[in-house]
Amino acid sequence: MTRRKKIYEGKAKTLFEGPEPGTIVQYFKDDATAFNAEKKDVIEGKGVLNNMLSEYFMTGLGSVGVPTHFIKRLNMREQLVRSCEIIPLEVIVRNYAAGSICTRLGIEEGTAMPRPIVEYCYKDDSLGDPLVTEEHIAAFGWASQQDMDDIIALALRVNDFLSGVMFGVGIKLVDFKIEIGRVFDGDFQRLVVADEISPDSCRLWDIETGQKLDKDVFRRDLGSLTDAYTEVAKRLGVMPKQSTPVSKPTLIN
Ligand code: TMP
Repeated sequence: MTRRKKIYEGKAKTLFEGPEPGTIVQYFKDDATAFNAEKKDVIEGKGVLNNMLSEYFMTGLGSVGVPTHFIKRLNMREQLVRSCEIIPLEVIVRNYAAGSICTRLGIEEGTAMPRPIVEYCYKDDSLGDPLVTEEHIAAFGWASQQDMDDIIALALRVNDFLSGVMFGVGIKLVDFKIEIGRVFDGDFQRLVVADEISPDSCRLWDIETGQKLDKDVFRRDLGSLTDAYTEVAKRLGVMPKQSTPVSKPTLIN
């Protein structure tokens, strides 16, 4: 058996060299971290759920014309994606106030935003992923002004799609984070949605009860994270299919 080459190990995923040039295998781990890995745990089954959910969202985005890095799911924990150059930004879209915007601006959790608000954080764990402005991004060359216009357009399309999908199953999309990659076709560069879209990177609240169905359950010790993610998967109909039950042998007289 040949050993696959590991390219990168992150907090929730490991990346391996793919079977063909320009491809990567994303392996979803069960590890959960919060507050820049100050809080850590292993949540059995989280990787499987996030793999399936991310497949569902990326495929859906592709079907409405939003380019993503996703190629196909390989198995319960792995998916094949197009290799791309990740722009070192976390792109956050907020529809309702939650998390850092509440503490930063003194807004009450749950307040509706006047319009979707797009924020950027510079991806650097040693700095705690600080919030940055377009000025920083352009001045330090992380992305061009044209890239940023394209990133905002992509982020808002993802927001419209995800909000609609979630609303359809009784869930409010409070906010989410995406990462954007560059792929090169000859001399041309295109931007695609990369990394993952899962309850690890979104805030999802039940519309009726306000129950949290995302990683805040882990961040704030609100109960079982697996139950929360399973609920999202069930509502969307993306639970791993049960194989046909094998009946016990019956004695024939
Ligand atoms: P925040 O309110 O903590 O800034 O988070 C905004 C959104 O981004 C929320 O949906 C959770 C997500 N997020 C990540 O995916 N990774 C991170 O490292 C952080 C801090 C937030």
